[in-house]
Amino acid sequence: MPFSGRETAVQLPLIDNDLNYPGIELDLNERRLVQLHGQDPRWMTELEKIETKAQGLRFFDITEMQDLDSLARPRQLRKSSFPSPNSTEQVNFVLETLSTAGPKENLAKFTSFRTRYYRSDTGRQSQQWLLSKISEITAKYASKSLREQISISEFSHSWGQNSLIVSINGSSVDDDSIIIISAHQDSANMWPFLPAPGADDDGSGSVTILESYRALIAADFRPVRTVEFHWYSAEEGGLLGSQAVAKYYAAQSRNVLAMTQLDMTAWVKRGTREEVGIITDFVDPDLTDFNKKLVDTYLDIPYVETECGYACSDHASWAKAGYASSYSQESAFENSNKNIHSGNDRIDISPEFSFDHMLQFSKFVVAFAIELGKWES
Ligand code: BES
Ligand code: ZN
Repeated sequence: MPFSGRETAVQLPLIDNDLNYPGIELDLNERRLVQLHGQDPRWMTELEKIETKAQGLRFFDITEMQDLDSLARPRQLRKSSFPSPNSTEQVNFVLETLSTAGPKENLAKFTSFRTRYYRSDTGRQSQQWLLSKISEITAKYASKSLREQISISEFSHSWGQNSLIVSINGSSVDDDSIIIISAHQDSANMWPFLPAPGADDDGSGSVTILESYRALIAADFRPVRTVEFHWYSAEEGGLLGSQAVAKYYAAQSRNVLAMTQLDMTAWVKRGTREEVGIITDFVDPDLTDFNKKLVDTYLDIPYVETECGYACSDHASWAKAGYASSYSQESAFENSNKNIHSGNDRIDISPEFSFDHMLQFSKFVVAFAIELGKWES
């Protein structure tokens, strides 16, 4: 074993460094620069990185991103406060049209890929399926003139599964700010070669934001500011996709006003109250306060403040790039789904997996898009 001398908390399958698993391109000897929570970055092999994750340790993989901090947008360029919700009529109009039908159908398909691991063939195929579903929804629900304002693109990564970016161009000529709503499309078992349906983590967030996008374009949403939907690749590899995208935006000095991540939106633990978990660490506090107001104004359930305690999802990449980012999830951190990163992260594992709960997050996203993107009438 290349990591002899250290105890492993989790029993990993016996593997050979030269093992060639069909459909997964993984060089276990590849050197990666990994930053563990609260520590200086250090080099390790891909295999050691996988083992680190299996031990429950948390990290950023910054191999290609060592200069992201230096590109970071200066804080003073950030908006320090966000207005109270004031587009209630427009938001409520769209909320009425949200449904669980699309999310049910889309998540059944999305979880049918053996794994959406970012280095796997099926991870690439699931990304292509998602891209075709976005295109199909756009063709079906957007008017011809709205379609001219929408661009759908792949943000390429070296590992094969690309991040996806859909932009509804803003009408303003003098406000270049951008609103980003995101989820991660990849899934991962603790051991990458094993099946990973990733229903909650983060199939749920992926179809949650897709349903919001569908409802917005069906309502002929014409934002003043550009509103973008991002589906990141390789979150499970250490926030790789979102760091690459955030780095690209920072290098181009793109003016991202607000970013919000949806990662795990389906689980309501038995015996607990249904609520929205508003994450308060590695986020912008003003934007997070604004999100609380959105929950109070537009959702049928309350929020609870909670922490991951580490850079647990893609919002952290945008925070690192100096942008105002935020993150909402299914519950208080301690009540979240314990089946993630296993073959049991499935739609049908338990009645605790709830499409009605997910719909509350689609409402949140619609409100975020309209309140911050603004809608010219
Ligand atoms: N969705 C999880 C993070 C999470 C777990 C949020 C439990 C809320 C409750 C995310 O996809 C994930 O697995 N993140 C990694 C860290 C990442 C930087 C590789 C993790 O938590 O180990
Ligand atoms: Zn996740």
